[in-house]
Amino acid sequence: MFDLKTLIRPNILKLEPYRCARDDFKEGILLDANENTIGPAVADLSPEEDELLLNRYPDPHQVELKQQIVDFRNSEALSELKNFETDKLTPDNLCLGVGSDESIDLLLRCVCVPGKDKVLLCPPTYGMYSICATVNEVEIVKVPLTTPDFQVDNTKVLEAVTADPNIKVLYITSPGNPTGKLVAIETILDLVEKCKANWNGVIVVDEAYIDFAALDQNGKSKSLSVLVNQYPNLVVLQTLSKSFGLAGIRLGVTYANTTLIRYLNAMRYPYNISSLTANVAIRASNKEGLSTMKEYCSRIIEQRASVLEKLQAFKGVGKNLGGLDANFILVEFLDKEGKPSNDVAKKVYQILAVDNGVVVRFRGSELNCTGGLRISIGTPEENKTLLEKLDKVLQQVNGFN
Ligand SMILES: Cc1ncc(COP(=O)(O)O)c(C=O)c1O
Repeated sequence: MFDLKTLIRPNILKLEPYRCARDDFKEGILLDANENTIGPAVADLSPEEDELLLNRYPDPHQVELKQQIVDFRNSEALSELKNFETDKLTPDNLCLGVGSDESIDLLLRCVCVPGKDKVLLCPPTYGMYSICATVNEVEIVKVPLTTPDFQVDNTKVLEAVTADPNIKVLYITSPGNPTGKLVAIETILDLVEKCKANWNGVIVVDEAYIDFAALDQNGKSKSLSVLVNQYPNLVVLQTLSKSFGLAGIRLGVTYANTTLIRYLNAMRYPYNISSLTANVAIRASNKEGLSTMKEYCSRIIEQRASVLEKLQAFKGVGKNLGGLDANFILVEFLDKEGKPSNDVAKKVYQILAVDNGVVVRFRGSELNCTGGLRISIGTPEENKTLLEKLDKVLQQVNGFN
């Protein structure tokens, strides 16, 4: 049933990737791209910045960076990967974007015809999917995550996609935002298998927070990125904004089968990844960078446990609504009767920010998140301040603690 050639929009199938003279010739006197040959008009570039030749367009292919990324993810291949040698990732499985926000949008535009096609979302979920869908005039169909465990409801999703062939993309966030909960690998793969047989659409698993999730019993990451050659209807998104601590460079990664990736690369702006971004990303994804990333993740995970434990000792703070698979928690705020309350959560949010300079995120209006504040895990000092201030704010709001 799944058939990429009929899924991709006809205008995209016809698209010829932008080509430049530098695809053929990289060296010599380069007078092919209307660059400023004198140099960058910045007097005080550092020697490192100077070396990046910022007067020149960046490399549109970024093979070195892609190779490092796939080497890393291949090194963590899941036992679900049946044939490592034939199915392991190569740079041709990757399309790089300006953050995964660009990847979300690109994929949607690749397969959804405006005014006709639809996307399926599983709320509560990340807000950019619906923004991109709305901007592109793509209708949104919703199948909520199950409660209270925030998993994908495979039966209902299958019902929805088989009932409506105009649904072309399903976005799953795992670990979820704002849920902080990993969707079980078995659940996603079961859905991927069943969808492949019954639906002409792609399942996009947004793994922005995957490096904060617990490793499996073999010490491997639970990322599904290594499975995209095995499952042509599976697409995985990742970002350097979270575990790598590089939200400022804007780098997102799409993993998919090589055919789909070819179309995504043909669609994107050829120079979307700046030389500055690529340079930092290459340093972040080499051996040293990866070990720093892992160390930071462990520190954040340690802090996550400690913040949650302390928070839960506060009267007026209810349960952790979500999971412990990301760099934030979603905790419930209660009224005097002990019921989750958006009024209380909003007041706490306001007073924390306005009078105490600590900004968290109110998520109580999201489906099944009543009374919820999403709190990113800070540094130990930041967390200490958060806890002190919150203690005070809860007394003010509810007379608690
Ligand atoms: C689930 C999810 N996907 C994607 C993003 C966006 O990431 P990026 O910074 O790479 O655009 C976020 C950011 O918060 C997110 O929570």
